[in-house]
Amino acid sequence: MAAVPDISLNNGQNIPQLGFGVFQIDPAETAAAVQQALKVGYRHIDTAEMYQNEAGVGEGLRASGLDRSEVFLTSKLNNGYHAPDDARRAFDETLDALGTDYVDLFLIHWPLPGRYDGDFVSTWQTLEEFYREGRARSIGVSNFQVHHLRRLASESTIVPAVNQIEVHPYITNEEVRAYCSEHRIAVEAWSPIAQGGVLEDPTILTIANRVGKSAAQVTLRWHIQRGDIIFPKSTTPARIEENFELFDFELTDADLSAISALDKGEQGRTGPNPDQFNFIPS
Ligand SMILES: NC(=O)c1ccc[n+]([C@@H]2O[C@H](COP(=O)([O-])OP(=O)(O)OC[C@H]3O[C@@H](n4cnc5c(N)ncnc54)[C@H](OP(=O)(O)O)[C@@H]3O)[C@@H](O)[C@H]2O)c1
Repeated sequence: MAAVPDISLNNGQNIPQLGFGVFQIDPAETAAAVQQALKVGYRHIDTAEMYQNEAGVGEGLRASGLDRSEVFLTSKLNNGYHAPDDARRAFDETLDALGTDYVDLFLIHWPLPGRYDGDFVSTWQTLEEFYREGRARSIGVSNFQVHHLRRLASESTIVPAVNQIEVHPYITNEEVRAYCSEHRIAVEAWSPIAQGGVLEDPTILTIANRVGKSAAQVTLRWHIQRGDIIFPKSTTPARIEENFELFDFELTDADLSAISALDKGEQGRTGPNPDQFNFIPS
């Protein structure tokens, strides 16, 4: 099987374009799911403090027998820890839970415009410390809109390496993607199959029938050919394998356009709008 391509980030680090997401995986099942994914060939895991399963990710990685350096690990700062001292403490705890002395990528999970007096800049400057210390090899953001990114550009020094945002055929999020592309910020597309919500779509099913692949594989391949980074989640071993088999077929330009035309804009979101989301877990 063809290898997963790397995407080169704006600081020279490489990230595998296809990884494995662990949102909503029960902490007790996470180590087994991660081990399964690593066995299949995934070398990039996306977790977050909010998912409460960082320890399971670390355990799965150690049980795999792979060297730490062979796997790209991402985690994210939980919403309750944006104040700089809290962020420092939370980052230490993330490294402890993962059982590692660095992450490959660390993200601000949400901008939270209605919290901390709207200040996500001092949070970002704290992530810049982690980057300079080498404890986060790359730093980035998640769920940032164009106006949030513009503010970071004018008030801080390091350009985020990535912006992890909701992208799938029902919300193609072109405005944010265009800004990111212009400023060399790699886009990570979360919920790449809309948590299963696009898999019955007739346009996607027609293409899937023609190319002899599943609706999930066609949708994931659409992301790959658009150049975004993805990490579909599954706890079903057959699907973990299926979602990795994306590199032995190609979609035509017409297929890509037909899938992109399914965009429903704001109506297509499965998750919250980042301009309105101010949730802090208890
Ligand atoms: N930054 C953020 O705010 C944010 C938000 C959401 C997600 N994320 C990240 O993005 C990752 C992926 O997003 P997601 O987990 O929300 O959703 P997703 O990957 O789009 O979809 C996962 C769902 O689809 C099912 N599924 C997976 N592969 C399938 C296949 N081949 N055929 C049929 N069904 C399939 C899974 O079921 P089973 O598990 O039962 O197989 C699960 O219910 C997350 O795990 C997380 O790392 C980030």
